Amino acid sequence: MKEFMKAIKVSDHVYWVGAVDWSIRNFHGYLTSRGTSYNAYIVMADKIALIDTVKAPYKEEMLSRIASIIDPGDIRYIISNHTEMDHTGCLPDVIEAVKPEKVFSSAMGVKTLSEHFHLDHKIVAVEYGETVSLGNMDLSFVETRMLHWPESMFTYLAEEGVLFSQDAFGMHLASSERFADEIDDDILEYEASKYFANILMPFSLFVSKLLERVGKLGISIGIIAPDHGPIWRKDVTRILELYSKWAKRKPTKKAVIAYDTMWQSTAKMARSIGEGLIDGGITVKVMPLDVCHRSDVATEMLDAGALLVGSPTLNNNMFPTVADALIYLKGLKPRDLIGTAFGSYGWSGEGIRQVNDVLKEMKVELIGEGISVKYVPDHDALSQCHSLGSLVAKRLNEVCDNDR
Ligand code: FEO
Repeated sequence: MKEFMKAIKVSDHVYWVGAVDWSIRNFHGYLTSRGTSYNAYIVMADKIALIDTVKAPYKEEMLSRIASIIDPGDIRYIISNHTEMDHTGCLPDVIEAVKPEKVFSSAMGVKTLSEHFHLDHKIVAVEYGETVSLGNMDLSFVETRMLHWPESMFTYLAEEGVLFSQDAFGMHLASSERFADEIDDDILEYEASKYFANILMPFSLFVSKLLERVGKLGISIGIIAPDHGPIWRKDVTRILELYSKWAKRKPTKKAVIAYDTMWQSTAKMARSIGEGLIDGGITVKVMPLDVCHRSDVATEMLDAGALLVGSPTLNNNMFPTVADALIYLKGLKPRDLIGTAFGSYGWSGEGIRQVNDVLKEMKVELIGEGISVKYVPDHDALSQCHSLGSLVAKRLNEVCDNDR
């Protein structure tokens, strides 16, 4: 099997030597419905460099792809752009097998690699803007702190205009195709947006600043080679523009209604609120949390202007699936939302108050205190829900129209 694993040419001197993970569906809480890839790259310079490695179980796949073009022992330098273990899990074994002259990372990367692997091999810290000569070509480094770890950096190969961007501009997508221009546009944009929403949304301000900074560097980027998913080799401005748009997270006339229900009461309320929103001209995504994954809700939040959360009260608390989704969304720090809480209860009704408390922590502009209904909503209660939807729609229209 190993001899069939081939390196894929990316540019004159760059080859993809990563691994495709067709089976992963849970990437620490993120539903990876289409699997992923762990990308690593060989730069075939006078001094051969390996950019990043792969998750530990995929070491043999990477090494066999490398062996299809060179003797892995000929690797002189290894660059670690990002310490997270989907890109370094096999690094200690690879260092042992390859015995490179030098392993480079950011100064913070030296620390985080040591804290992960307690390596005997000395890691050399590179300064941002510094150049490492590969003989006939040079690598340089761009600071990308908190995108999405403190040690993260980009590596740039000026001679071929290749930006090795670690997680940024990537997506969780297993595919036989290696290049974005070979993949359906809708799949690409959806998976890239899901990746941004679930990994990078909390760091949106850093993304905006990075894009500004990269623009000012005056470097020519012909190829963006991320650590997950396809490589961008045509129209790289497309993914750069999408990142610029997503990082601004400008609210649109779209509302997400996330809820769970025990006996359909909260579900009926969700649908009535949704009708009020739709009648007010808002696009609505109703997401029952028994069938909608938290990471899919997060993806819809990338451009939503309103978040409405419904929960029954179970044993004096909000419903567990609602707590799960809310704590996840809170961590992703979506900004500039309006919203409200709603739900049914039997005797105490703490769930709705707890949802409102979390929405306040998320700095959501609340439209009233929401609606709670005892047991089963009657016609009047559902009419109030419709009115609440209309109120949220009115405010969202004002916000979006004033923002133009
Ligand atoms: Fe793909 Fe942050 O690791």
